[in-house]
Amino acid sequence: MAKAQKNFVCSNCGAVTTKWSGRCDGCGEWNTIAEEKPLSSAGPTKKTLGGMRGKEIPLSKLSTKESPPPRTSSGLGEFDRVLGGGLVPASAILVGGDPGIGKSTLLLQAAAKFADAGLKVIYISGEEASAQVRMRAQRLGLSEAAVQLGAETNLRDILTTLEKQEPDLVIIDSIQTMWADNVESAPGSVSQVRAAAHELVTFAKTRGVSVVLVGHVTKEGQLAGPRVVEHMVDTVLYFEGERGHQFRLLRAVKNRFGPAHEIGVFEMTGDGLSEVTNPSALFLSERDQPAPGSVVFAGIEGTRPVLVEFQALVAPSPHAQARRTVVGWDGSRLAMILAVLEARCGIPFAGLDVYLNVAGGMKVSEPAADLAVAAALLSAREDAALPKDCVVFGELSLSGSLRPVGQTENRLKEAKKLGFSSAIAPAQSKAGEKSGMDMRLMSDLVGFVGEVFGAG
Ligand code: TYD
Ligand code: MG
Repeated sequence: MAKAQKNFVCSNCGAVTTKWSGRCDGCGEWNTIAEEKPLSSAGPTKKTLGGMRGKEIPLSKLSTKESPPPRTSSGLGEFDRVLGGGLVPASAILVGGDPGIGKSTLLLQAAAKFADAGLKVIYISGEEASAQVRMRAQRLGLSEAAVQLGAETNLRDILTTLEKQEPDLVIIDSIQTMWADNVESAPGSVSQVRAAAHELVTFAKTRGVSVVLVGHVTKEGQLAGPRVVEHMVDTVLYFEGERGHQFRLLRAVKNRFGPAHEIGVFEMTGDGLSEVTNPSALFLSERDQPAPGSVVFAGIEGTRPVLVEFQALVAPSPHAQARRTVVGWDGSRLAMILAVLEARCGIPFAGLDVYLNVAGGMKVSEPAADLAVAAALLSAREDAALPKDCVVFGELSLSGSLRPVGQTENRLKEAKKLGFSSAIAPAQSKAGEKSGMDMRLMSDLVGFVGEVFGAG
């Protein structure tokens, strides 16, 4: 009976179930579950391996001398930073992102830089014809770069070519277009994407080749998303940004060779992506006058301080159910902060629409931004602007007290560098005096409301 079991796989997170449902229990996405044939190698047939043993594998001590991997810098500083200081040989990297966000552009530019740095680079495009890629290279002023170009989707042919050419770096654009002829399902399905990624990563590890896989983030269930191969690779980078903005963030969500959560900032221009070495100045550039509802948060992204502006708008709601709209920050965290403001400070938001936005298309996930969000909400509600030269940071607990956050010194240094002169921070924040900033330390939200906005 169990023989004829059907297999349903979520194309977003790869969760496997035995029956179809409209919503994946694993990741909560709708309409991403589709039936799929199990891989042809049926896996173990018996419960145990039995008495027959394989060959012994060599074991070694932890203390074996291992020098740090030699890294190659691309010269694109922001890209190298996100990789953890350059490209590690024989590493597998996944670059995910929405279609059209600029993945191919970024990787073509990086490929050219790595080729300049002396690596043998092959760029395999499964989506565009060679002529199209060449045209883009021309537009980017890279037509002289020593990158070898191939347009192919058949994995067997690609691996044969790579075996022959012995490159240092291969870029596969994109993993969803690759197909292995030993797997019986359509290109882009979870089995195909997994099989192709597995083959390429294994090839990379055994031949000492670095491989970059491009993966489209997909909203519909037809194509498997990059998340289904995240566990196979060493480094997972996501390229994100708002369509209307020219800024693009390359974010490391996993990195076996460097810090995760590191970001690289780029700007999409008429001739490709250019690096943004001082992102704080960029995210704040839209701000000239202090406005009610606008608060500057001194944040940390990866290892680097970044100042971002939170903007809030609070208005009487015409609807029975007031709106809560958030861009660039977590919606449930906003609900929590509204609840704390109401319960601990007696400031109700019922009947008021609340809009919260992070300027410049940036996404913030640090809890240290709690106080900045609370300040923006209060400032918008009371229609009172915070001083123009003031930054805010601190984590809020449900009791309404403020918790100190890490890297206070770096946050203050960055703020000072950008011309800010005062900071509102949790009471126990160390390193405040040394910074030369005017520190206003608060131990709880009630005190903060009293001091900054009068009695509230
Ligand atoms: P692309 O790299 O093709 O995106 P992806 O590979 O992630 O699907 O980028 C496509 C977008 O980038 C397209 O909308 C045009 C824009 N673009 C520029 O603005 N300037 C440029 O120099 C290039 C090459 C692309
Ligand atoms: Mg592309």
